[in-house]
Amino acid sequence: MPKTIIKNIQTLYTSTGSMLLKGTSMNQVLVLNDAYIVIQDGLIYALGTGSFEKYMEKDVIIHDAKNAIAVPGFIDSHTHLVHGGSRESEFAKKIEGIPYLDILKSGGGILSTVEMTRNATFDELYTKAYQSLEEMLLFGVTTIEAKSGYGLNLDNEIKQLKVAKRLHENHPIDIVSTYMGAHAIPKDFKDNREDYIESIIESLSVIAKLKLATQVDVFCETDVFSLEETKDILENALELGFKIRMHADEIHSIGGAGLAVELKAVSADHLMAMDEQDMDAMAVSNTIANLLPQTSFYLNKDYANARMMLSKGIAIAISSDYNPGSAPSENLQFAMQLAANKMKMNPFEILNAVTINPAVILNLNHEIGSLEVGKKADITLLKAPNLEYVLYHFGINHTQDVFKNGQLVVKDRTILERRKS
Ligand code: NIG
Ligand code: FE
Repeated sequence: MPKTIIKNIQTLYTSTGSMLLKGTSMNQVLVLNDAYIVIQDGLIYALGTGSFEKYMEKDVIIHDAKNAIAVPGFIDSHTHLVHGGSRESEFAKKIEGIPYLDILKSGGGILSTVEMTRNATFDELYTKAYQSLEEMLLFGVTTIEAKSGYGLNLDNEIKQLKVAKRLHENHPIDIVSTYMGAHAIPKDFKDNREDYIESIIESLSVIAKLKLATQVDVFCETDVFSLEETKDILENALELGFKIRMHADEIHSIGGAGLAVELKAVSADHLMAMDEQDMDAMAVSNTIANLLPQTSFYLNKDYANARMMLSKGIAIAISSDYNPGSAPSENLQFAMQLAANKMKMNPFEILNAVTINPAVILNLNHEIGSLEVGKKADITLLKAPNLEYVLYHFGINHTQDVFKNGQLVVKDRTILERRKS
């Protein structure tokens, strides 16, 4: 395979090493001006500044970055990618001020998406999610996590997970799958929730055997899954070798983050209502605070207290939470802009929160998450004079070009033709 050289990179920004970055270490970013990157066989072969003459050889492909900035391909480590339909019919209620959990309690919210997902065919789910992946790729995202949780029975959860698997095989974006049967209590189990929890626990071994997910997530929240129920499900998941995640302290502070730390979850996600005591516990653990500011924006809620978390030494990731109910947007760049404006995170902290730290959540930190020799050539070129500009000029897409596994997949903000899949 011929080498590719990306030349004329105005500035390259990346973390170095594969370690989780916590607290003040999230400020560490390597900055190289007038940089180049050499790619071979899908991996980063070399990078540096100034002359790349020594890598010039017959057949080499030169890609002109045209003074763009280069960053590791973004990683979105919390999405509900695969689902049927959309919920704009509930939008008016939301604007009137009817709370998110009240819509769910009255059989809408997650439960209306469950109905649409159960009624959708594999192909319908595939086509819709494929389109979302195209949007994500255009925003410079090269790896994501995708949760099930809109089937809420074994067959339909498996349908969702199989769609994610097929998408992982066919689309340039890599997908790590999470089983989230514990997303809501389905209507048919409303009066016997213990039976539903039992059925989730039974499903875990089926999902493990089919190798359809490597992680398990639970929506731990008042009137959804209690601390005890969450613990029961996640302890069973741990026994089967799953990595565990939690939707924790999103709306009410019920100690979800503390439980995530106790169970050694790889991440606790949302945390808008997290209390200080749980922050202290998280600071001395390896559980990552995965913050989802698009959800605060859309639900008109408080933003997670990122500054306090960072000052205590917590590791932060930022994700889109793309889903039809609380964050109907695939735009990770908008989440980054909210992290700056609303959560007061600085550009280096934000870059690490969408690259190396989410790579740790997905257990891919030795392959992706930084631009370094030997790692995958997942590279996003942003048409901006510097990293600050990407956060300052909000609501637009700054992506110019995207390389996935060394292949140019987006050029001049346009998705390149691929073999049909
Ligand atoms: O992360 N909080 C629970 N789950 C999703 C929302 C799912 C939905 O409303 O469809 C979230 O916010
Ligand atoms: Fe979520």
